[in-house]
Amino acid sequence: MDPQEALAILERERARGFDLVVRAETPEAIRDAEIAVLGRKAPYSEVQRSLGSFGEEDRKAVGRVANEVRGALEAAIEARRAEMAAAEEARLLEADRVDVTLPGRRLRPGSLHPVTIVERQVVEIFTRMGYRVAEGPEIEDDWYNYASLNFPPDHPARSMHDTLYVDVPAHPGLLLRTHTSPVQIRTMQAQEPPLYVVIPGRCYRHEEVDPTHLAVFHQVEGLAIDEGLSFSDLKGTLEAFARAMFGPGQQVRLNPTYFPFVEPGAEVEVSCFKCGGEGCRVCGNGWIEILGAGMVHPVVLEAGGYDPERYTGFAFGLGTDRVAMLRYGIPDLRMLQDGDVRFLEAFAGAI
Ligand code: DAH
Repeated sequence: MDPQEALAILERERARGFDLVVRAETPEAIRDAEIAVLGRKAPYSEVQRSLGSFGEEDRKAVGRVANEVRGALEAAIEARRAEMAAAEEARLLEADRVDVTLPGRRLRPGSLHPVTIVERQVVEIFTRMGYRVAEGPEIEDDWYNYASLNFPPDHPARSMHDTLYVDVPAHPGLLLRTHTSPVQIRTMQAQEPPLYVVIPGRCYRHEEVDPTHLAVFHQVEGLAIDEGLSFSDLKGTLEAFARAMFGPGQQVRLNPTYFPFVEPGAEVEVSCFKCGGEGCRVCGNGWIEILGAGMVHPVVLEAGGYDPERYTGFAFGLGTDRVAMLRYGIPDLRMLQDGDVRFLEAFAGAI
């Protein structure tokens, strides 16, 4: 080829190259266009190879045009590639688009079980008075659950509790605690007096389950031991508790009764928090029994390692499920344990 022919080829290839690049729609098509106009077998490369056969002037002139064409084509290819990458990115973003104006999905918060609500309230009222919280094991032995609490062997109170025994051959005599009172002993053993504690927890009895009895139930035990505590401290404490729990107008009534671990012992009634004491379907006569209480028996102080000559104290035990039942008008205690979500949802936000 001669120089004129070479220049003509270069101009044709420039135009053809632009056209191929502009029409390329995929990265593969760009690659093909690049090979077609600048590859080893392209007319452009033939021009390059023939430069050596031209005279010096022509070689320079044609060589300059060849470089210019190559530069222009490479720039066009590069620009088309960048354009394609940007389009691909825009496509991916579009595919990921989120409509922020759509309504959100509502999270359904859980709520506290009514027994938990009551338990927390009781504990909070006493911790505000300066009590601390103690806990103990649900599996106990006869000594903690009964003997240390002054239940004599073969005393009918033991069978009244309908004990569930735990069958562990290596540890005969284990049982599921029938009340939270054994934690009185454990707390005394672990701490020096003065002692002011509340003990929330789960208890077990071999009960025939019915609307007012559960085999697994809850108590909050209280224990105060100090020098010079008297029965009037007990009554004042229970009155303060009842007013904080059920309202400022609350009256408290104590009737003598027997618990082996207290002397004297009392069952404690509060004026009905539904009718205010006039008598209604919940209370009958205007009073509701919610706990047992009394002055800690000297035998119990001794079992806990305290000197009964120096210390006196009072104790009480409250039926948490029963208070929840009365407070929320729950007709059947078993509803507390059925796990029916519709029942539990009724307590969302309850206080
Ligand atoms: N432990 C008793 C029960 O389960 C309740 C009780 C009564 C606890 C009198 C006390 C108390 O601390 O003083 O029936």
